[in-house]
Amino acid sequence: MERPRCDVVVVGGGVIGLASAWRAAREGLAVVLVDPEPGRGASWAAAGMLAPVTEVHYGEEALLALNLASARSWPGFAAEVEEESGLPVSYRRTGTLLVAADEGDRAWAAELHRFQAGLGLEVEWLTGREARALEPALAPGVRAGLWAPGDHQVHNRELVGALLAAGRAREVVHLPLRVSSVETSGGAVSGVGLGDGTTIDCGAVVLAAGCRSGELAGVPAGVLPPVRPVKGQILRLRGPADRPLLSRTVRGVVQGQSVYLVPRADGSLVIGATVEEAGFDLTVTAGAVYGLLRDAQRVVPGVSELVLEESLAGLRPGSPDNGPLVGPSGLPGLVLATGHYRNGILLTPLTAEAVAATLAGREVPGELAGFGPDRFPVLAC
Ligand code: FAD
Ligand code: GLY
Repeated sequence: MERPRCDVVVVGGGVIGLASAWRAAREGLAVVLVDPEPGRGASWAAAGMLAPVTEVHYGEEALLALNLASARSWPGFAAEVEEESGLPVSYRRTGTLLVAADEGDRAWAAELHRFQAGLGLEVEWLTGREARALEPALAPGVRAGLWAPGDHQVHNRELVGALLAAGRAREVVHLPLRVSSVETSGGAVSGVGLGDGTTIDCGAVVLAAGCRSGELAGVPAGVLPPVRPVKGQILRLRGPADRPLLSRTVRGVVQGQSVYLVPRADGSLVIGATVEEAGFDLTVTAGAVYGLLRDAQRVVPGVSELVLEESLAGLRPGSPDNGPLVGPSGLPGLVLATGHYRNGILLTPLTAEAVAATLAGREVPGELAGFGPDRFPVLAC
């Protein structure tokens, strides 16, 4: 019997694989997307913040430039996904307010503000009173705020549904299976083996398996991406749609701990998240739920009135320098799109563009040039 064949197999259907498959199909390629549970990994757990400014970290200026470029792509990307899928993604330009709970947190926020201002980022220092004028639900004790008008949000769960539908509209075939191996012939990718024992022949494979991207059989050890799971526990609460507690994302710094509160248009509120090196552990702990609610309530006391609907853990695909690995790999025909750590939703548009460009033989967008898969040396053991 003849083996099934396509141009590209995408391994993994989180936001990165789904968007890459859709964009590759728009290039005229025949695409098969393989994932037993598309959209249910980190992309489901995430908060959907598109926050290059309030999530900036010291020493990550190159990543900041990438994040800012992807944030600029979001309005056009959201419109195209909605148009091709016929489904909403709720891209909301509501900005983000970072608030400091006590004097120590105020000093930390002031330092962050100096760093952000030095980088030329659009961010404004507010007194506690000014912050409360923006968000009346803030606690009276909030000491100061940083207003970042360009840090927005998208409804990440709507996004995965819309990307699946947009892919379908472009004839992306979805197989609800695991990819068990990558097959090679003559030193290049020639196909994939699937969990049901069948195979597909193809000219290219896009490895977008999130935190599992580092463990696919058949990929040479030096080519497998150095990706690890970084656990995040996160909560979803329900409130009245007609009287939302917050109208924009609030990030709190509470005795040095970070917490974020992301309000959706339907009155619900996402509260996150822990950052834990815990391997492939998806359990939810009482301590994490307690800590998130305690810190959220410290900056927005009204949180205690909401209904706790969901507690969940997700695994971020972490990389050694917190940046993604996107582009052609050392195995001809294997394209990597992984390691997006805390910014995978934000980086979806630019990553998908880069994957499609690579498959079509074009250069990746300039902002991704420093994030090629070959930047990590293979350590001899
Ligand atoms: P995933 O969404 O994890 O998808 C990987 C997919 O690969 C899964 O569906 C899985 O089933 C599949 N897979 C694995 N192995 C195989 C195989 N062998 N064969 C076939 N399929 C396979 N980012 C932001 O930008 N903003 C945020 O606000 C934000 N908040 C976050 C909050 C939390 C709590 C967490 C955990 C993450 C958050 N992130 C956020 C990060 C973001 O969620 C991730 O960077 C992003 O979802 C990664 O997408 P992905 O497609 O690479 O991985
Ligand atoms: N970017 C938010 C998180 O990873 O929790």
